[in-house]
Order: sequence, then structure tokens, then C-alpha cells
Amino acid sequence: MTLGQLVRKPLGTAQRGYGATGRLDRWWAPPWTIAAGLAFFVVYSLFSAFIWTQFLGVPYDYDGYVSPLFAIHSQPAFLPAWLSPAILLIWIPLGFRVTCYYGRRAGYRAYLADPPACAVGEPTVHRRFALESRLPFSLMNAHRYFLYLALIPATIGWIDAVSSFAQEGSLRIGLGGILLLAESVFLSLYILSCHSVRHFAGGRIDCYSCSANHRARHGIWQRLSDLNRYHGLWFWASLVFIIVCDLYVRALALGLVVDPAVRF
Ligand code: FES
Repeated sequence: MTLGQLVRKPLGTAQRGYGATGRLDRWWAPPWTIAAGLAFFVVYSLFSAFIWTQFLGVPYDYDGYVSPLFAIHSQPAFLPAWLSPAILLIWIPLGFRVTCYYGRRAGYRAYLADPPACAVGEPTVHRRFALESRLPFSLMNAHRYFLYLALIPATIGWIDAVSSFAQEGSLRIGLGGILLLAESVFLSLYILSCHSVRHFAGGRIDCYSCSANHRARHGIWQRLSDLNRYHGLWFWASLVFIIVCDLYVRALALGLVVDPAVRF
């Protein structure tokens, strides 16, 4: 199928031409803020995962604290020394974020201007499009599978966070452990508030009141919907804490900071 045979989008009511609009508000600010944050996260994660330790020699763990970007803690024998073990799992959180409905909407609006915003003109070439039924945008439909896979690094993150409190036979309550724990909490809220989780819990049901099982699923769906209202907040909180935890562990390893902690 050629580009000209693709579905033609209705003209709509927006003015013609990229960015043409009668809107007076800063319509560009929200999508560009999210898109810039997402781009920074992807670039930072790749730098931390593949460059910082392997080529610059800064450890990703220190005194029982492990960066949340490194769910695989040690170098498997089958990987060459220059290739970070992060490669085994880092693609899961990145794929999960990039295909997230919250991040994807901003990406379409900011990077592709398709459309830039409601009632804002877009490039006329966008009248030829095939939604998410063709490559590469059909890959966005893999989000639900990234969701299932994201449970692996999230679970490892919880184990790392909790085990960081047990050090050398004693209980250590340190800033690093608190940061890792907060990161796991926010990441879990981000995952639980995912649109695909809501569908998993309450989708494909015609009648919520017709059986005890469906009533229970409706109750779970309602709780998840409450979380979903703040999905953007959990997106940002988990993203920021992943970066903060990674930076903190690197700073500890470099001797730039000392972990304030009490031991029992
Ligand atoms: Fe954002 Fe699933 S919609 S994580």
C-alpha cells in the first residue's frame, strides 16, 4: 500500500498549517514538557546503563544499594566485558514508558505534531495516515506486553530496596534505602494506575452486577480507576526517583556524599 492509499483524515475544524490556531493559551507547553522529560529519561538511562560503569568506571552499586536501572546485578559470563548487564532488562522499562498512553500522547503531539493540540493546525501531510495499524506506530500496541514484563524489574527493585535495610546482620535505615523504597512505591503506583491494568481488571465484561466474580472485578476496577486519575503524577514521580536513586548510588560510589544512616 502506498502512502496515498492510506486513510485520509477528515479536515476537521482546526486552521490549516502547522501551529495555526486561534487559541491564546500555551497549548504547546504540556506536550513538550512531557516529551522533553521522556527524552531526557531515555537518554539518561542509556548513558547510565551502557557508558557510566562500562567506560567511565563508576559502579552502579555501593554498600548494599543498587541503582534501579540495574535489575541484573552482575556481569553474566556470556556477555563481553564492554557490554553492560543492563542490556538484558533495560529495554523493558524504556519500552513501557515510551508506549505508555500518557507519554505516547505527548510524543505524538510534540515530536510528530499529529496533531500538535486540539484546534491547532498540523502539517497537511498528516491527512494521510493509518493510525496505529502500521509500523512503526503499531508497535505501540505492545504496551500491554511491556506491562507484564515490567513486573520483573519492578519486583527485583522491591527486593533490592527492602534488602538494602539489612546490612551485615543489622538493620540500617539510611537515606539510600529510603530513596530506593520510595522509588519502588512510585513505580508500583505507576504500574497499577496503567490503563492496561484497568482493562485487565474490568475489561471485557458486559454486566458488572451479574455475578460475584464480576462485582469483585468492578470493585478492583474502581480502585484502579481512582489511581489512574493521577497516572501522570505517578509517571513523573517514578521517573524522577529512578534518576535520583541512580545519581545517589553513583555519588556514594564516587565518594561525593556520605549516606546518613542509623543502625540497630
Ligand atoms: Fe501509562 Fe500503561 S498507560 S503505563
